[in-house]
Amino acid sequence: MKQKGFTLWFTGLSGAGKTTLSNAVEKELRRLELNVEHLDGDIVRKYLSRDLGFTKEDRGKNIERVTFVASLLTKYGVATLVSFISPYREKREEAREMIGNFVEVYVKCPLEVCEERDVKGLYEKARKGEIDYFTGITDPYEEPENADVVVDTNELNETQCAEAVLDHLEKAGYIDRALDWKTLME
Ligand code: ADX
Repeated sequence: MKQKGFTLWFTGLSGAGKTTLSNAVEKELRRLELNVEHLDGDIVRKYLSRDLGFTKEDRGKNIERVTFVASLLTKYGVATLVSFISPYREKREEAREMIGNFVEVYVKCPLEVCEERDVKGLYEKARKGEIDYFTGITDPYEEPENADVVVDTNELNETQCAEAVLDHLEKAGYIDRALDWKTLME
């Protein structure tokens, strides 16, 4: 069966668990021997978007670049994972339209919990006023209204969240894990 390209778009607050979850899903997609590419905010901002900051305009450009790359990968049959805060609904909708085979995953987690986790120590800095335009503190996050998958990382563990995403991919016909089982049984 020829692999059908798709983009899994993970959106959510900083510290919600986008990278962790997308890494877990990526691992399973690779196990299924799909061609996989992962565009993650922290990495893309080091290379493709090094020149950009966090104003609405810069975040918009960041997401436009990622959308363009993801649309090419998807067109060529790659299972593409994209993990960015991507706080603006309009930009995510543009990505959906441009990419086509698009699955929006809302990585949901209450702001208080993200702040409590403060994995990178950035919330504390934002509260002290040392970082401008910080999502959830001094900058908006527009929650998805029609996400294809919503996972609450405060209620479910990593495996449960990954399973919810993989289940959706299977129902949408992008992956076939049963096929994998048959291969294993042979
Ligand atoms: S997006 O808004 O353009 O989608 P992106 O996902 O690329 O954001 O980058 C977010 C990451 O940049 C955060 O996880 C955090 O590590 C870092 N960061 C630095 N400054 C900010 C800020 N002002 N707001 C949000 N994240 C920031």
